[in-house]
Order: sequence, then structure tokens, then C-alpha cells
Amino acid sequence: MYAQMIQSEATAEDPDKLAAFEARIAAGEKIEPKDWMPAGYRKTLIRQIGQHAHSEIVGQLPEGNWITRAPTLERKAILLAKVQDEAGHGLYLYCAAETLGVSRDELTEMLLDGRMKYSSIFNYPTLTWADMGAVGWLVDGAAIMNQVPLQRTSYGPYSRAMIRICKEESFHQRQGYDIMMKMAFGTPAQKRMAQDALNRFWYPALMMFGPSDKESVHSAQSMAWKIKMNTNDELRQKFVDETVPQAEYLGLTVPDPDLKWNEERGHYDFSEPDWSEFFDVLKGNGPCNADRMEARQQAWAEGQWVRDGLMAHARKRAARRVAAE
Ligand code: 3HC
Repeated sequence: MYAQMIQSEATAEDPDKLAAFEARIAAGEKIEPKDWMPAGYRKTLIRQIGQHAHSEIVGQLPEGNWITRAPTLERKAILLAKVQDEAGHGLYLYCAAETLGVSRDELTEMLLDGRMKYSSIFNYPTLTWADMGAVGWLVDGAAIMNQVPLQRTSYGPYSRAMIRICKEESFHQRQGYDIMMKMAFGTPAQKRMAQDALNRFWYPALMMFGPSDKESVHSAQSMAWKIKMNTNDELRQKFVDETVPQAEYLGLTVPDPDLKWNEERGHYDFSEPDWSEFFDVLKGNGPCNADRMEARQQAWAEGQWVRDGLMAHARKRAARRVAAE
């Protein structure tokens, strides 16, 4: 259905419609599900929103790993709430993608057969409790940096989903920083754990913003359509500028010997992540890619009876409605 829809719209595109669409984008209007849109705009949105939704769902795995081992009841309750929020974010985003004519089943199948991605960051393991702090502080911190501007994205349902998501992401970032404060100002062993978590998550967090602007395939078109509001490098720089003082407050060292404030630019200079590692993770070769995909395959297979039951119920209700009319 998805492929057919993209195909039929591609042939239906005409220059007048395209010009009218681009004028609406330029005027800052929101595009809504029933409005005409170019096939490429729809396709880009499905790719980006779908990838984002999958990231929220797969993102539950590294943190879910620590729910049973949280150090106190309070920390457990907070972590549970955070992981549940991520499931909710996935659902808002799948709903936003569905308004573009792709079903949730199709999106999931595309994830499971490798046609769609999820964020590279979730292919790294969470080895200690301090990683829960680093994930909240850095990973949710990077996610917010990327997602706050997306509240102004041109597609209405995506923009509205982002407004709800960003409110919750701020709480996630704060709870992560709170864990980091406890660890960094705790015993020497706790501080070492906090430093180790920062060492392991710093560069993967920088990679979340995507490849450098020179390598980014989609940025130019996505920014012209206001699907993306900033380039990958702009957001990465903003993240570094805001995060370094937070690391300094914790008394932790960012693992980059070349990190320094550049007075002239008014920004930090910093080392690029190892992009060969990033592309390797995207190809499926990160430390946890296989585990993450296996967990999603298993959840999909084990949920089959629930989906079948719901569909049978829906069909029965529809048949009853038709019979009553
Ligand atoms: N992980 C995996 N793939 C990535 C990636 C990343 N961190 N960054 C880029 N890519 C992929 C792109 O999808 C694209 O591949 P494709 O053509 O096969 O889809 C390729 O690398 C080239 O990158 P581009 O810069 O051209 O791609 P985009 O214009 O799509 O920019 C993006 C990438 C900035 C991530 C953009 O898609 C975006 O802003 N997405 C919305 C935000 C999002 O997905 N966030 C997920 C973060 S995790 C999260 O929110 C969970 C929370 O709980 C922490």
C-alpha cells in the first residue's frame, strides 16, 4: 500500500500544485494529512517519523535493562515512568506517520526487515547504573536539542506530537542529570563510574545528530521543506556548547583533549566523532545491533496473537454494524 501510494502521487504531481505547496511552506503554514503534498515530502516524513518512532521503542531496551536493578525504590519508579514515556512517544509518532497513509504494521515490518533504521545510540550497551544517568543527561539531552526545533516542523501531526514529547523529554534529561550529580558528588568509586559513563556515551551522543553536513544526504531538501529546522552540525555544536559547562559543574572531564572554548567563534571547538564507527553501526555492526533486533523480532512474534485477537474483534463488530443497518 505504501509503495503504491508513493508511486501514484509521483505521477499525479503537477507544477502548479507544487508551487502552491511551496508557497504555503514559505508562509509558515502547517501541512495537514488531507492536503496535497509532493511524493518526496510524504516519503521523507514517513522515513524520518518512522525512524524516530522506532528509536523511541528500541530506546526502551537499554534502560529497561536497569529497572530491576535500580538502587532505590524511588529510582525504580522514576526509571519505570521514563521508559513508559518512551513507549508513549513511539505511539504518538506511529500515529503521526499513519496520517501519511502508512500502517503501523508496515512500519514495523520495514524495521524488522532492515528497510528502516532506528537511532544509532541504542546500539551501545548500558553497563552500570551511572549509564542511566549518562543516557538521561546526554542521550535525552541530545534528543531534546534535536526535537525542540521540530515542534515548528511543517507537518502538523508531527509538530503536535513533538510538543507533547518535548515536555516529557525535559523531565528525562533532568532525571539523568540528577543521577549524574549523585554519582559525581558521591564516593570516589561512584565518581569513577560517572566519568566512565561519560567517556563511553560522549561520542555516541554526538553521533545522534547524524553525519556531518557535508555527508548528510537529506538535510538540504528537508530544510527547504521545513521538515528539519537545523542542520546536523548546527545542532551538534549547540549540544556541545550547552553540555560542556554541565560536565564542568559535575567535576567530570569530557573525553576530548582538543575541546576548548573559541573566543572568536563564540563556541567550543571539539573533535568529530569517529564517522567510520557511526557508519559501521548503521550497517548493523554496533555492539548491540543484533540484540536489539532480536528483541524487537521476538516482541513482534509474541504479540501476533494479540493483534489477531484485536482484528477478529474489530471484524466482528464491523459485521454486526453492517447487519444492523
Ligand atoms: N542513527 C541512525 N541513522 C542515522 C542517524 C542516527 N543517529 N543519523 C542519520 N542517520 C541516517 C539517516 O536516516 C540517513 O539514512 P537513510 O537515508 O537510510 O534514512 C543517513 O543516515 C544520512 O543522514 P541525513 O543527515 O541525510 O538524514 P536526516 O536528514 O534524516 O537527519 C536526523 C538525521 C537528524 C536523525 C533526522 O532524521 C531527525 O532529526 N530525526 C528526528 C529525530 C530522531 O529520529 N530522533 C531519534 C533520537 S532517539 C529518541 O528520540 C529517543 C529518546 O527517548 C532519547
